[in-house]
Parts: sequence; C-alpha cells; structure tokens
Amino acid sequence: MAMRNRIEVMHGVNLDQIGRRNPEHYGGLTFDRLEQRIGAYGRELGLTTRFFQTNSETEFVEHLHRLEELADGIVMNPGAWTHYSYAIRDALEIAGLPTVEVHLSDVGAREEFRRVSVIRDLCFATVAGQGVDGYRDALTRLKEKLQR
Ligand code: DQA
Repeated sequence: MAMRNRIEVMHGVNLDQIGRRNPEHYGGLTFDRLEQRIGAYGRELGLTTRFFQTNSETEFVEHLHRLEELADGIVMNPGAWTHYSYAIRDALEIAGLPTVEVHLSDVGAREEFRRVSVIRDLCFATVAGQGVDGYRDALTRLKEKLQR
C-alpha cells in the first residue's frame, strides 16, 4: 500500500499575527518561524507537510472541501473559530480525514469561552498548551494513526 504521509497543516484566523500577540500564550514566535518549525518536525518524522492559513472562514471551509484527495491527515488550529464555527465543524466532517486539533496556548486554563471546542469530537486527539512543541506531538500521533 502507498505510504500515507501527506499532512495538511491548517491555521485559522489571527494565527498569521502570533508574533504580535501575547507571548505568554503564543511564545513570541513569528508565524513564518512556526511554519518552519512544523515543517522540520514533519521531515524528521518522514511526513510531507503542506501549509494553509487564512483569515477568511469561507476560504478555510472551501479548502476543507477540496482536501479529500490531496491529504491523508490534518493538523488543525482554527484559532478563535474553534470555539464557535459550526461551518468549519461541518466542513471538517465532510473532509473525513483523521485530524488532530492543536492550540499553542492552554485553552482549558484561559477564559471560559476558550474551553468550548466545536470540532473536538471530530478530532482523534487534541494537543494544547505546549506551544510549538505541541505540533511535533500532533504529527507523531498522526503518523501512528496513518501507519495503523
Ligand atoms: C489558539 C487559542 C484560541 O482560543 C485563540 O483564539 C487563538 C489561538 C491557540 O493556538 O492557542 O487564536 O487557537
């Protein structure tokens, strides 16, 4: 069987601005550096990573519509959409790919509204509060899942 190693790394609203957001939560890394680090983790694990970021919910949803044939798994950090976007939830269900939800910050220990995730039950794992290292964890879990 062909190797299933194509991972789509999807970032949502305001993640492109993490270098300007509270370093206590987001680590002070620029978004470019974040994507570079994730790409390096992917290479270490023998995974092919492709990156997508948008601040448009429509584009995020339409990207998910196209993904079925293009990727084997998803690492997704939708930013604030995590907490309320049923449109993204439905699109993720349509994509039907194994997905890990990732958050740089510890969403369970911040404001009440961040404790809700409308995508969580569609994801086979959630990683939060580990900063950029959390993405390595997410990629490792996806690799294990895809090898099974
Ligand atoms: C975030 C957490 C969200 O609550 C927030 O809206 C973000 C980033 C994180 O990576 O910690 O934009 O998803």
